Amino acid sequence: MITGEDGPDTAVELPGTADTEAFGEELGRTLHAGDLVVLSGPLGAGKTALVRGLARGLQVAGPITSPTFVIAREHAPLPGGPGVPLVHVDAYRLGGFAELDDLDLDTDLTEAVVVVEWGEGVAERLAEHHVLVQLERREDDVRVARVTRG
Ligand SMILES: Nc1ncnc2c1ncn2[C@@H]1O[C@H](COP(=O)(O)OP(=O)(O)OP(=O)(O)O)[C@@H](O)[C@H]1O
Ligand SMILES: [Mg+2]
Repeated sequence: MITGEDGPDTAVELPGTADTEAFGEELGRTLHAGDLVVLSGPLGAGKTALVRGLARGLQVAGPITSPTFVIAREHAPLPGGPGVPLVHVDAYRLGGFAELDDLDLDTDLTEAVVVVEWGEGVAERLAEHHVLVQLERREDDVRVARVTRG
């Protein structure tokens, strides 16, 4: 359902926060070390909610938050899971790729799953391939997710 192999028009309706989290969880279960997920969508679209689900699917320690002054957080794998850490980046305040590339992270990105909020157009260069999830906030407040693999 969330493969996106039909192109960017594979749209999934997410009526509530729990649906967005479940969508992220399902995606998270498919991810491996070195995978990059790029999230786009306006303020309050549900990007962080999706990451909360990703963390559940990937079985890493929480909590997933979006604090004002922290650009990247690293979440350690939980025992019993696939053993891959999650690096959660919020690129909202970053000026561009140079700043993103300069983040002094402890984790080797090829050994982690990296998810970047506000990453479209910038973060794709962090890895050879990526999964782009575009979240739209419809007028009726339902979120619509479109997944494209690039
Ligand atoms: N279908 C939905 N999916 C996700 N969030 C929803 C949905 N319906 C309502 N919400 C609410 O919208 C808000 C989404 O917040 P969230 O922090 O996940 O968005 P965001 O895209 O990360 O925002 P920001 O751009 O500030 O980082 C939450 O308060 C959440 O409960
Ligand atoms: Mg957010």
